[in-house]
Amino acid sequence: MLARLEFAPFTQIAGNHDMADHASSPVLQPVTIGRLALKNRIVMAPLTRSRSNDDGVPPAFAADYYSQRAGAGLVISEATNISRQAIGYALTPGIWSDEQVEAWHAIVDAVHQKGGRMFLQLWHTGRISHPDLQGGALPVAPSAIKPAGQAFTKDGMKDHVTPRALETDEIPLIVEDYRHAAVNAKAAGFDGVEVHSANNYLLEQFVRDSTNKRTDRYGGSIENRLRFPLEAIDAVIGVWGAEQVGVRLSPATTMPGETPLDSEVMGTYGAYVDALSARGLLYIHDIEGVTQQTRDVPDGVDFSALRKRFSGAYIANNQYTLELAEEVLAKGDADLFSMGRPFIANPDLVERLRTGAPLAEAPKQYWYGGGSVGYSDWPSMQSTTGAR
Ligand SMILES: Cc1cc2nc3c(=O)[nH]c(=O)nc-3n(C[C@H](O)[C@H](O)[C@H](O)COP(=O)(O)O)c2cc1C
Repeated sequence: MLARLEFAPFTQIAGNHDMADHASSPVLQPVTIGRLALKNRIVMAPLTRSRSNDDGVPPAFAADYYSQRAGAGLVISEATNISRQAIGYALTPGIWSDEQVEAWHAIVDAVHQKGGRMFLQLWHTGRISHPDLQGGALPVAPSAIKPAGQAFTKDGMKDHVTPRALETDEIPLIVEDYRHAAVNAKAAGFDGVEVHSANNYLLEQFVRDSTNKRTDRYGGSIENRLRFPLEAIDAVIGVWGAEQVGVRLSPATTMPGETPLDSEVMGTYGAYVDALSARGLLYIHDIEGVTQQTRDVPDGVDFSALRKRFSGAYIANNQYTLELAEEVLAKGDADLFSMGRPFIANPDLVERLRTGAPLAEAPKQYWYGGGSVGYSDWPSMQSTTGAR
C-alpha cells in the first residue's frame, strides 16, 4: 500500500558526487509547458512534512522552506486536504478555510518573490485515515474494504479500520469540496493545482477494481470507476481551466506482496489517460514503479505507452537522478522530472545538480512532524561555503 510506503526508510541517493559542470544539461534549461514558463525541467515533488497546526494551517516558516526551494522549475506543495473529511494524517495542511488560504498566500508570495512557480496538490485520503482524524467518524471509501497498515495520528501509528462506503448522493458533495478547494487555491495565488489521484488515496480507490466494488454508477465498468475522479477533475478545471491543472497518477501501485491494485492496469489507466488527454490537461505526473521503493513495474505496465497517449506534458517521478533524467529526456519519454527526497536536505538542489556538488541526506526523523529544525534550516551551498 503506497500510503504506507510513503513512510518507508530513506534510501541512498545515487550519483552526483562528481563535481562536474552540468550547466549545459538539457534538463536544466528553461522550458515552457502550456502557458507556464519554467526555469528548468526539475520539479519539486509533493512532500508531506506534517508541520501544520490542528486547524490544518501551515506554519509561517513554511514560506522559508518552500521559497528556499524556488530554484526548481516548478514547486508542487505537499498534499493538502480539500476538507476535514479528507484528512488521513495528523498535522497536514488544508485549503478549506480562510485562515488556511491566508497562510498559503504568504507561502506562494515568498516562492514568487524568488522567481518560482508553485502548484497546490489537492488531496482526499479516503480510507487511508482513522477515526481519530475524523472526529470519531469512520473514514469514507468507495467500498467498505479495510486497508493494510497504519495511520499517522497525533497519538502515534494506529491500525487502519474498515471504512464506510459512501452513499451515491454523498459523492457530488465531495466533488463540490474539490471545487471549493480549487477556488481557495486560486485565492491563495497558486499558479495551478495538481489533483492527487495516486498512491491509493480516494480517487485511486475509485479507479481500481480491487478497492471499488460498488454497484451504482460509480462502480463496475472502467467508465463507471472513472466517473467520480473525472467529475472531481472537471470541477477543478471549471475553476482553473485545463491548462493550469495537472493530475498525479501511480498506475503501478501495488498491494503488500507486490500484487497490482487493478486486474487490468493498462486497460484502466489507458482509458484514464485518454480521458485526461481529451480534456487538454496541462500534465500528468506519473510515479514510475512504486514510490520510493522500486522503478520495476508489474508485467505489462508500460509508462512510455501511457505517456504517448497523453497530449500534454509528462512529469516523470521516482528515484530520478540528473543522469537518468537526461537519458529519458533524450528518448522523448518525459518533459519534466520531479524529485522528492533530494529536496528535503538540499534547498538549492538545482544549483547542486548544475555544479555536480554532493547532495546532503535528511535523516528520516525530520521527515514528518516537528518545527523548523530539519525542515527550513538546511543550508544552501552558498551559506556553507560563503562562495558566490
Ligand atoms: C517525506 C515524503 C512525503 C511525501 N508526501 C507526498 C505527498 O504529499 N504527495 C504525493 O503525491 N507524494 C508524496 N510523496 C512521494 C514523493 O512525491 C515521491 O513520489 C517519492 O519521494 C519518490 O521520488 P524520489 O525518489 O525523488 O524521492 C512523499 C514522499 C516522501 C519521502
